[in-house]
Amino acid sequence: KIEINAWRKRQSLAFHRNPLRLRRRMSQACRDRLVRTPTVIAMCGLPARGKTYISKKLARYLHWIGIKTKVFNVGEYRRDVVKSYADKDFFDPDNAEAVAVRNLCAQNALEDMCNYLADEGEVAIFDATNTTRERRRVIYDYCAHTFCFRVFFVESICDSVDIIDANIREVKLKSPDYKTVPQDEAASDFLSRIKQYEKRYETIDDKTENNYSFIKIFNCGERFLVHKIGGHIQSRVVYFLMNIHVLPRTIYLTRHGESELNQQHRIGGDPPLSRNGKLYAEALAEYMDNENIPDLIVWTSQMQRTIETAAKINAPKEQWKALNEINAGICEGLTYVEIAERFPDEFAARDQSKFYYRYPGGESYQDLVARLEPVIMELERAENVLVVCHQAVARCILSYFLDTDAEDLPYTKVPLHTIIKLTPMAYGCTMECIPLPIEAANTHRDRPKNCRPDRTVEEALNEFLEPDTTARVIRTKSEIFYNSCGTKIETRDEDGNRIQRYDS
Ligand code: ATP
Ligand code: F6P
Repeated sequence: KIEINAWRKRQSLAFHRNPLRLRRRMSQACRDRLVRTPTVIAMCGLPARGKTYISKKLARYLHWIGIKTKVFNVGEYRRDVVKSYADKDFFDPDNAEAVAVRNLCAQNALEDMCNYLADEGEVAIFDATNTTRERRRVIYDYCAHTFCFRVFFVESICDSVDIIDANIREVKLKSPDYKTVPQDEAASDFLSRIKQYEKRYETIDDKTENNYSFIKIFNCGERFLVHKIGGHIQSRVVYFLMNIHVLPRTIYLTRHGESELNQQHRIGGDPPLSRNGKLYAEALAEYMDNENIPDLIVWTSQMQRTIETAAKINAPKEQWKALNEINAGICEGLTYVEIAERFPDEFAARDQSKFYYRYPGGESYQDLVARLEPVIMELERAENVLVVCHQAVARCILSYFLDTDAEDLPYTKVPLHTIIKLTPMAYGCTMECIPLPIEAANTHRDRPKNCRPDRTVEEALNEFLEPDTTARVIRTKSEIFYNSCGTKIETRDEDGNRIQRYDS
């Protein structure tokens, strides 16, 4: 109690000091951000209604599409203050002491959240029950009036006893609140906690709370009610929430089998499979057969190497143009060594910012993420799917499921002849990699240690070449010769000796 009282004093002092400072900072932030007003997404609903699940999933999606997003979970603030949770009486709305602490935790999270949006964030998700009209009014007044942020409420309503029981078993019994409590006791305490909240629960009322923007999700997406969507982000959020589901399923992801160009370490193009690539296509079909997945569907790109890879799999197939490999523009068909030699500036620029770098006449990883958004949305709607795609595309899809930062995304290792099995769980996703024992070229190039703009071509090349090929590249000058059709014939060193010959 002493600990709580000291904390309350600190927090209320901090809170009463802060609004002015925050408001000042906010008016500056508003001026800086005339284009996009920050958005607060405030969750609402009884315990075990999937609010944290939705918050985390939504944050991952918004982060993936390039929107700076953070979740503020009031439960974590509460656990920080009240170190050991005793029982459901803490959530009794008539327990004045506990109500005061809970209100302060909410206020503290609210303040941190507004700080984050005023400083750098674009979207903040306020993950708490927010089950009373009064609490929603406080959130709205603080965020919309004091800070001029947009506010969007997401209410999850669920009256299915089976879903609630499953949720309690899946996540609540593992909560830090019940670390030392036997499972049956924990389940019964959690049900009583829900009852405490039910005493004061007021669903969002579309008459008295008519001025708010909100969506109500009934029974895990059986039905929706959408009210007054305000702006681009909210409409994307609504579209996303209307596409997700909680049915158990597995997503398989693989690159095509090794292609003839992979063997030559050339990028892009639309080559057929190599001999090893064809062996992989057979092994993949056999593997999927053994997995015996109900209602499996297979998606490929429109490039022959993915279509050939999937050909023998016994399941319906669909081709997506959006799954085609990153377009390397003027670098299509070249090796990394050739790119460094012919376009040293481009090569250096890509190493400095691989996610944002766009090949002249081609695409960037950032473009690819935008191109893949409909695929992700359809993956959310689908159940068991095998996606047969390409290195850069697989990296983007994986980064959605694993929440990788844009900076690391283009360096994710996705080897050829490996099946990646993704299983969505309550708050994330598990990943299992299954390499099939068929040889394949290594097409991965690690993040270079030296990305300095003044780096020489030789320094750049030496970082990723096999040791035995290094000597040939350390030279001061070389010249590439082309025939009259512009096709490369050979490279010669400064003494006129042929270094490399290219087959027509
Ligand atoms: P609390 O208020 O105790 O924090 P919560 O509402 O945040 O609870 P979660 O911890 O998110 O509940 O519950 C996770 C479970 O909710 C997962 O098992 C997930 O399958 C399920 N779930 C996801 N979406 C929904 C939904 N719309 N309605 C009900 N359950 C859902
Ligand atoms: O090398 C195979 C490949 O799929 C190329 O077609 C593509 O340009 C490349 O991988 C993408 O990887 P990175 O972005 O690392 O160059």
